[in-house]
Amino acid sequence: MRTTNFSSDGVNKFPSFAALWDLESGADFLNHGSFGACPREVLAYQRELIGELERQPVRFLTQKIQPLLDESRRILCRVINAPVEDVVFVQNATAGVNCVLRSLRFQPGDEILVTNHEYNACANAAAFAAERAGAKAVTVELPLPVDAPGQVVEAVMAQVTPRTRIALIDHITSPTALVLPVEELTRRLQGQGVDVLIDGAHGPGMVPLHLEQLGAAYYTGNCHKWLCTPKTAGFLYVRPDRQEGIVPLIVSHGYNSPRPGYNRFRDLFDWPGTLDPTPWLCVGRAVEFLEKLLPDGLAGLMRRNHALAVWARRMLAERLGLTPIGPEEMLGSMAAFQLPDDRPEDRDLPLPPPPMHRLTDVLWKDHRIEVPVLYWPAAPKVVLRICAQAYNAPEQYVRLAEALEGKTAKPRAAV
Ligand SMILES: Cc1ncc(COP(=O)(O)O)c(C=O)c1O
Repeated sequence: MRTTNFSSDGVNKFPSFAALWDLESGADFLNHGSFGACPREVLAYQRELIGELERQPVRFLTQKIQPLLDESRRILCRVINAPVEDVVFVQNATAGVNCVLRSLRFQPGDEILVTNHEYNACANAAAFAAERAGAKAVTVELPLPVDAPGQVVEAVMAQVTPRTRIALIDHITSPTALVLPVEELTRRLQGQGVDVLIDGAHGPGMVPLHLEQLGAAYYTGNCHKWLCTPKTAGFLYVRPDRQEGIVPLIVSHGYNSPRPGYNRFRDLFDWPGTLDPTPWLCVGRAVEFLEKLLPDGLAGLMRRNHALAVWARRMLAERLGLTPIGPEEMLGSMAAFQLPDDRPEDRDLPLPPPPMHRLTDVLWKDHRIEVPVLYWPAAPKVVLRICAQAYNAPEQYVRLAEALEGKTAKPRAAV
C-alpha cells in the first residue's frame, strides 16, 4: 500500500519555471546533468554579446573583453568562494582536469588515484598522464550501492601508498549521482601528502561551494551545467602554492606577456587565442537569472532542486521498487537507481562511452522523456539517473514512473 500521496504533495511544493527555458515542448527533460540547459534570457544576452563582438571584433577582443572577463570571474568567485587570483576560465571540466594532469611531471612508478565512479573522459585523462610517464592510474572500487559517505573515504584511503601523487575525486559522480565527502577526503588525502584534484563538473549551482576553505590543491567545474550558462564555460581553481607549473592546454601570448595587476596564473590562461568568449561572459547574467527565481536566491534554488530530487527518488523507489544507489545524505539535485539486471535478449549495442541502455531511446521515442539509462559498472547491471532543475516539476517524474511501469503505452502528443 502506498503511504504517501506523492503527486499532490509534490505539485504544491515545487512550482516549475519551465516557461523561462526554450526546451522542446511536449517533452519531459529530466537530464539537466549531462549538458545543462540555458534559459532564454541568458541566450538572448549571449546573442547581444556576439552581435557586439562581430560589429567591432578588434575593439571587442583586444579592449572590451578583459574587464568583462574580470567581472565574470568576480561573480563566479563569489559563488564558489575563491579569490579571483586563483581562478581561470577553461572551456569545460574535462579541459580543467587535463590541464592539471598534463602539467604535472609524474615519475615512473608514481600512482594517480581515481575511483570507478569517475567520469570516463576524466578517467581517460588520468590514464593518459600516467601512461606517458610510466606511472600508474589506480582505480578505487567503490561499493554499489554506497551505504554511507564514510565507506567512500575508507575505500579511497585504503589505496593510498607512498607512491600516490594525486587523487582525482568527483565532487558529484556522474553515473551514480552521489555527492562525495570531498571535505573529509581532501583533509585525509592531503594530510598524507596526496594532492587532491576535484572534478566538480556538477558542483557550481548544485551544492554550496567554499573552495578556499576546502583547501584542495585543484578544483575544476562547469558553469554550463547547474549555473545554466551557454556551453563551454568551465573554470579551474588552483591553490596559490600549486600554481607554478600549471599551464593551459593552449600556450598563448600570456606566456611572455605579463600584465600589470595580474598574476602569472591568470596571464597564462586569460587569452587562449581567438575563440568565442561569450559563454564565459554570460556567467554574471546566468547567476543573476538563477538568483531571482526564488526569494532566497541561488541557495534557495539549490535547496528546491535538492528537495525535488529527494521527493522524486522516494516516489520512484516506492512505486517501482527500484534500489536507490546511495543514502539521501549523499544527494544533490540528481539521483540514480539500479534497475533490475538486464536480460541478454534486451542488450543493445553498448557503444562506449557511455554505454547507454536502449531504454534511453525507448523512453524518448515512445514517451518523450529524456533520461539517461546506462550499463554501470557493466552489463547486465543497469542504472537510471534523474535530475531536478528549476524547469522540472513533480508530474514529470510521475510520468517517468508510468512509462517505466508500461502504463503509458502510447506516446503523448506534442503540445
Ligand atoms: C563528473 C563529471 N566530470 C566531467 C564531466 C565533463 O564535463 P564537460 O564535458 O563539460 O567537460 C562530466 C559531464 O557530465 C561529469 O559528470
